Amino acid sequence: MKINGMVTIRPQMIKDAAAFYKILNEGHFQYFTMNVASIEAEKRFLRRSRKEWQKESAFNFTVMLGSKVIGAVGIMPESGRSYNAEIGYFIDRELHGKGYALQAVIQAEQFALVFRPEIQRLQAIIAVDNAPSIRVVEKAGYKREGCLKSYLKCGEQHLDAYIYGKILR
Ligand SMILES: CC(C)(COP(=O)(O)OP(=O)(O)OC[C@H]1O[C@@H](n2cnc3c(N)ncnc32)[C@H](O)[C@@H]1OP(=O)(O)O)[C@@H](O)C(=O)NCCC(=O)NCCS
Repeated sequence: MKINGMVTIRPQMIKDAAAFYKILNEGHFQYFTMNVASIEAEKRFLRRSRKEWQKESAFNFTVMLGSKVIGAVGIMPESGRSYNAEIGYFIDRELHGKGYALQAVIQAEQFALVFRPEIQRLQAIIAVDNAPSIRVVEKAGYKREGCLKSYLKCGEQHLDAYIYGKILR
């Protein structure tokens, strides 16, 4: 197996704003259309994210390669069904294909297993043509449970999405 280095995850910090701004705006991610207007706007998002952590409504992590910010992974419990949580992630386009998203997903799962005993199930909702993301969840052991028609809105388009699930405990 090719080893390209190990990533770590840690809770997001306001100082990550400039790196996220660059990764999200320069990535032009087709199925993850989160345009960030400015570094200040990203700082506001990160402040909200910190409050969400305190309210236990979302747990957003920064993915680090050494001391470099290279992406994010988040776990969002469903409102009213906190035993079910959605996982989402992105990695700097320049570093794709090195196994970093898989590592980040597994570490976020470990966080849920150890620190969030109420979370029974993780799910990912992925555009049917987002092959790299499908590969990540399948490598992590998620099972495809169905197809949600016109579920995702990417720009002006409504896309079909697969729902993948993994029972944690
Ligand atoms: C999805 C994403 C996070 C994957 O990050 P990554 O670090 O490249 O992921 P990994 O390296 O762990 O795994 C990617 C896998 O997809 C494979 N892959 C890449 N392009 C592919 C394609 N067009 N078709 C099939 N497989 C593909 C890679 O070969 C790799 O599989 P392998 O380990 O068996 O070789 C990254 O593409 C991304 O940031 N995309 C934009 C944001 C996004 O779509 N997030 C998910 C929203 S649901």
